[in-house]
Amino acid sequence: MRQLTLTVIGGGSTYTPELVEGVIKNFEVFPVKELRLMDIDEEKLNIVGGLVKRMLESSNVPIKLLLTIDRKIALNGADFVISQIRVGGIKARIRDERIPLEFGVIGQETTGAGGFANALRTIPVMLDIAKDIEKLSNNAWLINFTNPSGIVTEALLRYSKVKTIGLCNVPINFLYRFASILGVDIKDIYLDYVGLNHLSWVRKIYSKGNDVTNEILEKIKGNLSQKEREIVKSIDMIPNGYLHYYYFKDEVLETQKSSEKTRGEIVLEVEEKLLERYKDESLREKPVELSQRGGAHYSEAAVELMKSIYLDRKDIQIVNVINNGSIIDLPDNGVVEVPCIIGGNGATPISMGRLEPYIRGLTQTVKYYEQLTVESAVEGDIKKARQALLVHPLVGAKAVAEGLLEKILEGNKEFLPQFFRRQGICI
Ligand code: G6P
Repeated sequence: MRQLTLTVIGGGSTYTPELVEGVIKNFEVFPVKELRLMDIDEEKLNIVGGLVKRMLESSNVPIKLLLTIDRKIALNGADFVISQIRVGGIKARIRDERIPLEFGVIGQETTGAGGFANALRTIPVMLDIAKDIEKLSNNAWLINFTNPSGIVTEALLRYSKVKTIGLCNVPINFLYRFASILGVDIKDIYLDYVGLNHLSWVRKIYSKGNDVTNEILEKIKGNLSQKEREIVKSIDMIPNGYLHYYYFKDEVLETQKSSEKTRGEIVLEVEEKLLERYKDESLREKPVELSQRGGAHYSEAAVELMKSIYLDRKDIQIVNVINNGSIIDLPDNGVVEVPCIIGGNGATPISMGRLEPYIRGLTQTVKYYEQLTVESAVEGDIKKARQALLVHPLVGAKAVAEGLLEKILEGNKEFLPQFFRRQGICI
């Protein structure tokens, strides 16, 4: 069996022990011979890497560990690359969450104006990483978790040659939720799932081939608020949790405005505690405290995807790929999150047909926002940036006119050379 080199860009993330747990569990079928963790933050890398080293030792798997701050060393000859970077760190995430609030707009790290700012910072860095992969490991598969995952994946697939698949833990979490309601294995479930990353709907649920959608809808009612129940009753579909920001826009904005801390500020505290915990030499496994982060099952999603590519399993997983006609109502060159056949040739989207009228318009609008965002990030095009925010249903003209875009660009100046390099500033 060919042994593999797995590189994690952003390997100093506190999430990494979760990923490593999955790699260890799957060693027999997915034989990683070398695990390379790369990060620009050497201190964090060494703390997280220390725990990873102990995890590998205590599990007795012969995986060689390399910790490095040199991206080129990390990528050289890799078979799989996982990217989980956060350009500007949590400080930038907090800024993404705070600036929109000043303009009466929801602040979120992947959705709306916050996700837009995140994308502008992140896309050029990811395209740089892709250039290195093209040179140093041109046969590698890039599994992208870097947020906003769908938008970043679209940039990579449109502007680089790297074999990229975008991934998110939302689909696998749906599988776990439904499997536990039905008391079956997640492998028995198939989801008729459509949309974009963090903007998707489960239209139908099948268990061992039987349509169990109504049974699930009935059973989840108890966990929903009155308002959520109304939504589900109206559309007979289960919305991705991130649709909350659209369906309950006003309520979410009010809650955010009155909250003392943003999610990023809470995450910062969780991170500090986690890093302290990771320093403990007696800790040899992923600590329970990690479950306070939102990445549940992300390791399983990543390993299952890599396994299916490596073993050419041709099974079905929900990932982010170029649409290519899978959803008729969306542009062919846009990235969508849909069920795909996963094998040695990557992810082939299944035909999902048309979107129902009550989800079509929102999905199209957000897709065009995403495409404008990608193009503006790549080209440093201020006009497209403005257009992106103008069309976004959570932003709109008022915030743009009041200077939201200027504030985003100014606040992120050090990460946005593409907008500032020409005439000083080109607003
Ligand atoms: C979910 C989302 C990810 C996001 C994470 C945030 O897993 O799918 O895209 O990164 O939640 O979790 P956090 O603990 O950083 O708020």
